[in-house]
Amino acid sequence: MNIGIDQISFYTPYYYLNLAVLAERNGIDPAKYYNGIGQEKIAVPAHDEDIVTMGVNAAAPLLQEHGSSDIDTLLFATESGIDQSKAAAVYAHHLLGLGQNCRCVELKQACYSATAALQLACAYVARKPEKKVLLIASDIARYDLDTAAEATQGAGAVAMLISARPNIAVIAPHSGLYSADIMDFWRPNYRSTPLVDGKYSTVMYLQALEHAWQDYQAQGGRAYQDFSAYCYHLPFSKMGIKAHARLARLNGADPRREDTQDGMQYNRLIGNSYTAALYISLVSLLDYREDLANKHVALFSYGSGCVGEFFALTVCPQYHRHRYRDRHRAMLANRVALDYPAYRRYREVPDGRTGDFFPDKDTPHGCRLEGIKQQQRIYRPA
Ligand code: CAA
Repeated sequence: MNIGIDQISFYTPYYYLNLAVLAERNGIDPAKYYNGIGQEKIAVPAHDEDIVTMGVNAAAPLLQEHGSSDIDTLLFATESGIDQSKAAAVYAHHLLGLGQNCRCVELKQACYSATAALQLACAYVARKPEKKVLLIASDIARYDLDTAAEATQGAGAVAMLISARPNIAVIAPHSGLYSADIMDFWRPNYRSTPLVDGKYSTVMYLQALEHAWQDYQAQGGRAYQDFSAYCYHLPFSKMGIKAHARLARLNGADPRREDTQDGMQYNRLIGNSYTAALYISLVSLLDYREDLANKHVALFSYGSGCVGEFFALTVCPQYHRHRYRDRHRAMLANRVALDYPAYRRYREVPDGRTGDFFPDKDTPHGCRLEGIKQQQRIYRPA
């Protein structure tokens, strides 16, 4: 059975910070950000956005076009959850108008959980081929101010419909897996920003890639030369370049720029979006490349802590007709740049602890957070 991604679309906030602004404020050469870590801009969510609104805004176009009657499962992957108990999926289910006969759950393992959700969805659809799973991955990457990690912030969400008759890509059954209990990046419940051992995390990412690749080979996966493109989890795009160089070297090959560059276009403009980053890279690849019909694409998912998975997909011949490319490009083109004080204003995130809060209507389109009243979040659907 050809199970895979039937539709995929992404959303990123309306505001962004050009990293040249951060470089100037920090007295750093902007080339460090543009070339050293390979990032130009970072998405900055306004006060009326969170993981729920971003996820709903990513999913809305899919449901507008295809309806929702055959969706009976909503999986919501995130590591920037808004509640320790209630799943973001339940809010999204309501805001998207899905039927009541639907299971909703939130999944967490740092940046990796969307890949776990994808594999669970494929397994479920194998059992119930007449059903579709809506998978949303949505995250806000925030680090402490004035740290090296600040330049690797960002935000975004991706939504996918997983089905037994996919129009975008068939997910191959082989996966290379790797888990190890390490402390490279973590966020205790009482913190709003993570603790991160940045350099160590980049080393562990590459180690996980190597192990996952070896397992992928042991499980009967495809050879390195079979792939027309590679998508990596992109905390910043230079990480993907380093990962690909490592993988190429392991396979006695030279890393080709065209293997990865189209998959990095969007992430360079958005920054890290944790669970969504790998799949925004996939969207970027599909939107930029015209020659992928029937081609194999490799994907590496990494979540700190850590879990890595190497897997592959085959792009469907009709993928061009099912892209949301114009919508994605218009969304990016219409964003608004922030100056440094405005960025700092949006970095203060009221959470309702100190009283009710009703943010300005900063996000012009789509679903938004209308307010927090008596510690309950109130959303306005699109
Ligand atoms: N012009 C061009 N390049 C320059 C430069 C300049 N003027 N100045 C410095 N650079 C280059 C450096 O040479 C370096 O490149 P290489 O790595 O290729 O050597 C690069 O810019 C980065 O500079 P530093 O080595 O000084 O690193 P930093 O102190 O800026 O920290 C970081 C970088 C560790 C990634 C930090 O941003 C961080 O902690 N980020 C958050 C953690 C993270 O993203 N980890 C990734 C792996 S974990 C993961 O993937 C999960 C996740 O999503 C978090």
